[in-house]
Amino acid sequence: MYNAKIAGLGYYVPENVVTNDDLSKVMDTSDEWIQERTGIKERRHVINGDGDTTTAMGVKAAKVAIERAGIDKDEIDFIIFATLSPDYYFPGPGVLVQRDLGIKTVGALDVRNQCSGFVYALSVADQFVKTGMYKNILVIGSELHSRGLDMTTRGRGVSVIFGDGAGAAVVTRSEDNSKGILSTHLHSEGQHAEELSLIAPGMGQRWVLDIIDDNDPDDTSYYPYMNGQFVFKNAVVRFSEVIMEGLKTNGLTADDIDMLVPHQANLRISQFVQKKFGLSDDQVYNNIMKYGNTTAASIPIALTEAWEEGKIKEGDTVVLAAFGSGFTWGSAIIKW
Ligand code: UT7
Repeated sequence: MYNAKIAGLGYYVPENVVTNDDLSKVMDTSDEWIQERTGIKERRHVINGDGDTTTAMGVKAAKVAIERAGIDKDEIDFIIFATLSPDYYFPGPGVLVQRDLGIKTVGALDVRNQCSGFVYALSVADQFVKTGMYKNILVIGSELHSRGLDMTTRGRGVSVIFGDGAGAAVVTRSEDNSKGILSTHLHSEGQHAEELSLIAPGMGQRWVLDIIDDNDPDDTSYYPYMNGQFVFKNAVVRFSEVIMEGLKTNGLTADDIDMLVPHQANLRISQFVQKKFGLSDDQVYNNIMKYGNTTAASIPIALTEAWEEGKIKEGDTVVLAAFGSGFTWGSAIIKW
């Protein structure tokens, strides 16, 4: 058995900043409401024509991660791409990254686990590296939400939260067994699948031709739906459980955590978890204020920023945790 470590990190966010005040011009909301309920001050939205797609943003983040890992793109031997907002219905963006980065014909896997997507993807990469099957795996989380949100008062409960962006990591074989990804923990509860979902387009609902014919302005099935309070209540419980599970597996306690990087769902959720584990502000990394919730991209963006700011150092115990649509949730315990 080998060990797997994160050898390089990168992120990319579109330049276009959308403030809460900008949103209040197109829907009945306010900076005060958004900041109080979510902690978000602004987020990034792509601008049509600037070339930013889920894949393109992922590629930009990946280039930085590959360079920082100190390897050539031709040394990547597998690609894993997590997103809920792919460029195409199919094929998924993994193969588009393989094409656009000009990587040789390695395998490309798409992960569909929404806010938990990066933790799931990291877990898959970890297993492939640990078994010796692959040496360098490119893991990407990227999302383009803004084109799919209901930017009217009807959609305000969801649309103010989400933002666009991408993060990437190179997961590499390590001979040093004392460092790297110690364990990952994945869960799901499909019973609540529809509580945070985007039902259409999906073959389970209607004939594609009917959907095209309908053109019904009252049809909201094309927009994400979230039962906000229900999701919130489940999130705080599952975040805590899965962090505890990871700590216990490795014989650790909350006192051993140097840095918790939670999925940026809502600053109130992060603060709840922080309090529950008795962590200081320096031990939890949050950037939802700047980027909103970027689902599968949020952990790799936050992890990259934390690392760039020198808040993650060699030997640190880093905990990643996520919860979201599915419901799915997971954690990763890493010795940096
Ligand atoms: O990343 C995946 C996981 N996602 C999450 O973890 C999100 C979890 N949920 C949440 O973060 C919160 O539930 C939200 C931030 C989405 C909503 O906050 P809330 O405190 O649960 O608000 P609410 O949905 O209960 O709505 C309260 C009121 C309602 O008005 P009434 O019925 O009390 O008159 C809403 O219509 O706030 C209204 N409202 C808004 N007002 C201004 C909803 N959205 C907005 C808005 N601006 N954007």
